[in-house]
Amino acid sequence: MADARVDLVKEVAQVGEDIIHSDRFDKAKRVPHHSKSGNIACHSLETATYALGITRWLSSHGVHIDENDVVRASLLHDIGMTEDDVFLSPSRKKAYSHPKEGSRIAAEEFGANSVQLDAIKRHMWPIGIVTPRYATGWVVVAADKLCSMKEVRREAAKKVRDYARKRHS
Ligand SMILES: [Fe+2]
Ligand SMILES: [Fe+2]
Repeated sequence: MADARVDLVKEVAQVGEDIIHSDRFDKAKRVPHHSKSGNIACHSLETATYALGITRWLSSHGVHIDENDVVRASLLHDIGMTEDDVFLSPSRKKAYSHPKEGSRIAAEEFGANSVQLDAIKRHMWPIGIVTPRYATGWVVVAADKLCSMKEVRREAAKKVRDYARKRHS
């Protein structure tokens, strides 16, 4: 099981090599996400790994989705957060603006195609009311939510541990 996950991570790294080694992704490493220790780059890599796993599972059930699109859209879905004015805006505004800004960056800097752009623009569903147009977008939505829940749960568990440690010291 662990080996299968390592293989998925390697495949994500191959498909998204240009993204992962870009200055933009370097910046994403410095943008916090869901916790003090988390960042947009880690979140995006994990989302892409989940998304590739979901895509493989769907394929084994007869639903075939382009893996390149899934991985690249997942790696770029939150890239809009690397724009300073987006990151510094109030959280409600940020939730609406980063998909739009992210799709602009994905098109200009990484040549994202229309399927990838749709997935990036609509990945915040149901906060954003417009649903993805393609199956690719639905996979990104599912992977992003799974990954976010895991990160929030990890952060909450850490806070509980820190609180307990303080009380007993
Ligand atoms: Fe997002
Ligand atoms: Fe995300």
